[in-house]
Amino acid sequence: MSKLESLEHIVSFAKRRGFIFQSSEIYGGLSSCYDYGPLGVELKNNVKKAWWKAMVQDRNDVVGLDASILMHPKVWEASGHLEGFTDPLVDCKECKKRWRADHLLEAKGIKPTFEPGDWGNHKVRCPECEGELTEVRKFNLMFKTQMGALEDEADEVYLRPETCQGIYTNFLNVQNTMRKKLPFGIAQIGKAFRNEITPGHFTFRTREFEQMEQQYFSHPDDKKKIFDMWQEARMKWYLDLGIKKENLQFREHDPDELAHYASRALDIEYNYPGMGFSELAGIHDRGDWDLTRHSEFSGEKLEYFDQQENKKYIPHIIETSDGADRATLAFLVDAYDEVETRSGEEGGKHEKEVVLRLHKSLAPIKVAILPLSKKEPLQKLSDEIQTELRQNLMTMYDETGSIGKRYRRQDEIGTPYCVTVDFDSLEDKAVTVRDRDTMEQERIKIGELDRWFKEKFNF
Ligand code: GAP
Repeated sequence: MSKLESLEHIVSFAKRRGFIFQSSEIYGGLSSCYDYGPLGVELKNNVKKAWWKAMVQDRNDVVGLDASILMHPKVWEASGHLEGFTDPLVDCKECKKRWRADHLLEAKGIKPTFEPGDWGNHKVRCPECEGELTEVRKFNLMFKTQMGALEDEADEVYLRPETCQGIYTNFLNVQNTMRKKLPFGIAQIGKAFRNEITPGHFTFRTREFEQMEQQYFSHPDDKKKIFDMWQEARMKWYLDLGIKKENLQFREHDPDELAHYASRALDIEYNYPGMGFSELAGIHDRGDWDLTRHSEFSGEKLEYFDQQENKKYIPHIIETSDGADRATLAFLVDAYDEVETRSGEEGGKHEKEVVLRLHKSLAPIKVAILPLSKKEPLQKLSDEIQTELRQNLMTMYDETGSIGKRYRRQDEIGTPYCVTVDFDSLEDKAVTVRDRDTMEQERIKIGELDRWFKEKFNF
């Protein structure tokens, strides 16, 4: 578990330090919607960049895509979302509060089934006021909107509830233009929308969120080893980026909790503070469900011609699906550390300091430039140093407060290195570089800084 006891702690930390704000806060906020601040957008972009590098740039068998959020309404008929992407809802007849019926049953240790008549037998009352609850209704989670000026049914479109459908509808386009042979994958990052009945736990479950999804197409006989390959690769990605091993685990879905498209699903779970192990990402065997359905509904044969076997068939799909927001939250809480005061300030009280031990590649700011004084020659030299470093790295300039306070500020936002420019720098043309984690300080020639950081950040 991280040093955080609850998510509330990270909510206020994330706000205080410019990572994540409540959406529309000046209007009282919009429930379950969040805005990434100056540091949050850097962190989340770095998470997405790291994912893209591992999934696309570093591989020959996966290519990228950026499909539109709005798609032909038939897509959602074919995908099964119009029919099956629903949550079971009940309303309290007294206090009018709305509940997820499956959650109410689970809380009582009852396996949720909603055959007609079942619900009444369960004798569940409103957890808030003990009032009587309505019958169970199916509530579709897709957001509906209108396309064009005329408000008739023909113009109804949906905000996509998952990004992968744009990959399936582009299967032939990508395969033909990129001359891809099976097995190969298509990856994309983008927003998805779900009208969740019970959003919550900060950015863990929101109605607008971002997914990082990859669909790997193969011959059905190869599926098992491909599933194993992705299971290992996706877990390794989180570990390589510094998440503690004890905070991650796999969870296999029971057959009766599988989504309508999946024949097997395995979650990667993270031990979120105050929540326990909860879904961070999924690996799904979607079989030939999606391409078969889209072939049926569109009339286009989404098949692959296997030259070796001299026959056509519909490829099977192993999907990897990671939530960019859930991943960003996991990296943030896992990196959060509190230490005894170490800034070395004179008269420094023994209080706790926060150090965000983010992996270097994820840190929002890579290098802080800290002139020891606001005097002109130091400012000028610091400015020159920043101009050079910012060509490759995200930097921050800070000249206010004692040097101890400034180190502390950078530790709190996870900056791996601080460059201090002092009066000696004017003479010896060198600066002091401080390491966030070891706190070791090294004197480095200004002319060698760029190469030094190149090695550290691998750019
Ligand atoms: N294409 C398959 C799919 O969408 P999913 O398990 O419904 O599968 C995949 O979602 C991932 O998307 C989840 O593991 C999670 O990281 C993220 N996700 C799903 N719903 C979310 C929500 N309401 N808020 C934030 N992230 C969400």
